[in-house]
Amino acid sequence: MRELVAAKLGVDRGLGQRAELGVRCPLVLALAFLAACGGANPAPETTPAAAAPARAPGRAHGGAVRADAVVTGRPIVPADWQFSDKVAPVTAAHAMVVSAHPLASQVGRDILRGGGNAIDAAVAVGFALTVVLPEAGNIGGGGFIVYRDATGRVRALDYRETAPGHAAHDMYLDSSGHLTEASLTGHLASGVPGSVAGLYEAWKTYGRLPWPKLVAPAITLAEGHVLDAYRSRSIEAEAERLAQFPASRRQFLVNGHAPPAGTMFRQPDLARTLRLIADSGPDVFYRGQIADSIVAEMQRGHGLITKNDLKGYRAKWRTPIQTTYRGYTIYSMPPSSSGGVTMAEILNIMEGFDTLPAFGSAHYLHLEAEAMRRAFMDRNRWLGDPDFVRMPLERLLSKSYAAELRAQILPDRATPTPPFQASEGWGEDEGTETTHYSIVDADGNAASITTTLNGGFGSAVTVQGAGFLLNNEMDDFTGAPGQPNQYGLIQGEANAIAPKKRMLSAMTPSIVLDRNGNLFMVVGTPGGPTIINSVYEVIVNVIDHKMTLADAVAAPRINQQALPDVIFLERGGLTPATLDSLKAMGYKLQERGRQGDVQAIQQTAAGWVGVADPRHGGGASGY
Ligand code: DON
Repeated sequence: MRELVAAKLGVDRGLGQRAELGVRCPLVLALAFLAACGGANPAPETTPAAAAPARAPGRAHGGAVRADAVVTGRPIVPADWQFSDKVAPVTAAHAMVVSAHPLASQVGRDILRGGGNAIDAAVAVGFALTVVLPEAGNIGGGGFIVYRDATGRVRALDYRETAPGHAAHDMYLDSSGHLTEASLTGHLASGVPGSVAGLYEAWKTYGRLPWPKLVAPAITLAEGHVLDAYRSRSIEAEAERLAQFPASRRQFLVNGHAPPAGTMFRQPDLARTLRLIADSGPDVFYRGQIADSIVAEMQRGHGLITKNDLKGYRAKWRTPIQTTYRGYTIYSMPPSSSGGVTMAEILNIMEGFDTLPAFGSAHYLHLEAEAMRRAFMDRNRWLGDPDFVRMPLERLLSKSYAAELRAQILPDRATPTPPFQASEGWGEDEGTETTHYSIVDADGNAASITTTLNGGFGSAVTVQGAGFLLNNEMDDFTGAPGQPNQYGLIQGEANAIAPKKRMLSAMTPSIVLDRNGNLFMVVGTPGGPTIINSVYEVIVNVIDHKMTLADAVAAPRINQQALPDVIFLERGGLTPATLDSLKAMGYKLQERGRQGDVQAIQQTAAGWVGVADPRHGGGASGY
């Protein structure tokens, strides 16, 4: 039942979008995967790979790791892999913005060129995405920023939604203990939105330009912009759900359908809301007129969010997760996101292999899947809102614990995930209702930001008169231990519902430093639980497999999340021989559409390279 809802939520959309992905970068061919040698990477400070002794693939080392892994064999990618020739990397000398919508990236670039810094641009892009990417963006939702300033200080800002004060542990269970769909669609599905508070907090701490100037481009876009084919299709995919709520119907549909591509898309209510935010900051959202509209909407639909919930919302600065991988340093999001901890565990396990099988080979995917499985088992058991649960983070992040996990991996056999309860996972594509954007400014400040409404168009409820959608983030909680949420995740009590608690996220906005401590990559993606694995995969594609960023982002991805006990893989991304070998090792495989929508920046000798994932309609813009 919930899987059906997941399909309705838009996970089965977008195959048709491939048709419009023209060949934009003819130089990057499938063969580039075979030839990728990472000319853009800075020279490693330590022993070059060539000098390291050759070992059997997947062999673990006995001591400290600094050198590159020895990768045995060339990447194995099917010659007709659909995304390999569709990347349009952008190079710029000073600054770069990459987001899921070209118009939003241009807003960010203009702010940077006009004297704004990375946080100014982050605020402007965030508001612009609310307008041009309504399925994900986001003043009715929440998110995370990992920010590294040019001096090297790194901080994480948590503006995740919170459960309303009247939320209860079992609020989504029916009388027979089964999860209902109230956490997915409608007023009960929403947590208290955090985005306006978060963006304001970031700006108050680090911003340079006046606040109204950062909201202004979004107001202009809300007054009218041309709807593109991607967004028209994503509205159409959700038309049925949106039609259930009058304000959503009015804002997004014409005679029950999405406006066609090319329509001048006007959102006057949203423009008015943004004007209020430009003039009065978060006060009007959490205490004033917009708060009143949210509460009135809740009353109309029997939702839980009160004026007190809104008044009490706070964005929180947190210490980022920091880990190292073969001499690189990785910063990512701490709880209330599971992203940083889980990715660090995967990286720590993989770091212990000083030789790695080729990208795309069954043996490489086996090692990765086993690392992912073990990290996700810990995620699902231990992690939750740090203000509510105690977590063994030191142990989970330690290299010695990773060595224990690594030692459990069998050389050529899958280890089944212990049964909690089987789940079906979810549908074809995980959709685009979360979004990531990456920014580097001319001073070298970097911001990595992932925001979400959770499912497609969130709860599908638009706040009447205010023109923005509310999230359905409550579904990220453990509605019932042992029962899957819309992403098939089976989680424990650490992530159970409690009033004012933040639901555990998988968002993984990340920043990577090279071996000299210089800014190297800014990266993140949407994709529910697949987020963690997609970000990990892009990072190691660059570090281990020496792919250019464009190839690293285009490369096929897999996802293993402990339960359901399958490897999800992008259709057409693995060769038949690899598929057969994985099956022979005992893996269940499930092909799906696209995984993730990575927006990434890399520092290279030629300047900042920005890559928008060819899987969706994003854009990079720099100067
Ligand atoms: O916070 C999380 O982990 C989820 N709410 C993210 C959902 C998501 O990425 C859906 N996207 N495509």
